[in-house]
Amino acid sequence: MSGESTTWRVSLTVPLPVVDAFEASLEPFCVAVSRFLVEGDTRWRVEGDCVTAPDPQEIVRALSYAAAIVDLEMPEFTCFPVPGRDWLAENRRAFPPLSVGRYFIHGTHFEGRPPSGRTVIILDAGAAFGSGEHASTSGCLRAMDFLARKRRPRSVLDVGCGSGILAIAAAKTWRSRVVAVDNDPVAVRVARDNAVLNRVAERILVGLGDGYAAPAVRTRHGYDVVLSNILARPLRKMAWQLRRHLAPRGVAVLSGFIDRDWRAVLSAHEAAGLRLVGRIRCQGWSTIVVRR
Ligand SMILES: C[S@@+](CC[C@H](N)C(=O)[O-])C[C@H]1O[C@@H](n2cnc3c(N)ncnc32)[C@H](O)[C@@H]1O
Repeated sequence: MSGESTTWRVSLTVPLPVVDAFEASLEPFCVAVSRFLVEGDTRWRVEGDCVTAPDPQEIVRALSYAAAIVDLEMPEFTCFPVPGRDWLAENRRAFPPLSVGRYFIHGTHFEGRPPSGRTVIILDAGAAFGSGEHASTSGCLRAMDFLARKRRPRSVLDVGCGSGILAIAAAKTWRSRVVAVDNDPVAVRVARDNAVLNRVAERILVGLGDGYAAPAVRTRHGYDVVLSNILARPLRKMAWQLRRHLAPRGVAVLSGFIDRDWRAVLSAHEAAGLRLVGRIRCQGWSTIVVRR
């Protein structure tokens, strides 16, 4: 199949301290996101390349979300076609194989041999957030790598599963039953496809819905492990629901917030009766582990 076709580029300019947040907000739509210092300026241009024309309303929603998180007005953006790029090659460059703890993550285009002894996760990058490259995802994988040394959870919940990367990692690491939910139907489809690709579809139930209210989440016993890489504000709002869905001695891995926000996320969870057992920092993003 030829990789030559028209792609679309989303472009915006923001100050350095918030570049990470806006880059992350574009990732669900884009196969590659880059940043460049604007010449003669202190601001940075963030550019995301999409394989198909993105829905401008979805971009507005994602950018306003990021803007609210970092307390800025939503920046203006442009979205325009870029003819004749080899997007398959772009995708390969944007998604090289990646090692995080025990996990080796690679795209479907990878033709090499994974290192032995690793838990291999195969992903189709691009269609939903979660190639493993983003610091919030790799923070979760590092936390899971750490938890796997001591715990054998029987039930795992992934709230905001995106590509399904964490759910697949959980199903492969613990051979446990995993429920994965997302409020984006595209993510639900991609996560299901990726579960099949990784031969763990029989252990992962992927459902559509809003956080813990998603019908697939219902449980009488609570989950031994909850994974949620969603951003600071929704995590804080969902702290009590998380508490109610955790089994006694259950742990949660929470990510998707910049270092500046980690104490606020933690205090919402402490107020819900959970306590901190670990924190991972990576490229300005924090992941915390809390337990009942
Ligand atoms: C940052 S991505 C994380 C994807 C993947 N779990 C990872 O770690 O790379 C956040 C995902 O959460 C989903 N999401 C955001 N708010 C949600 C909510 N209230 N309920 C369910 N999913 C949500 C988004 O659609 C997106 O796919």
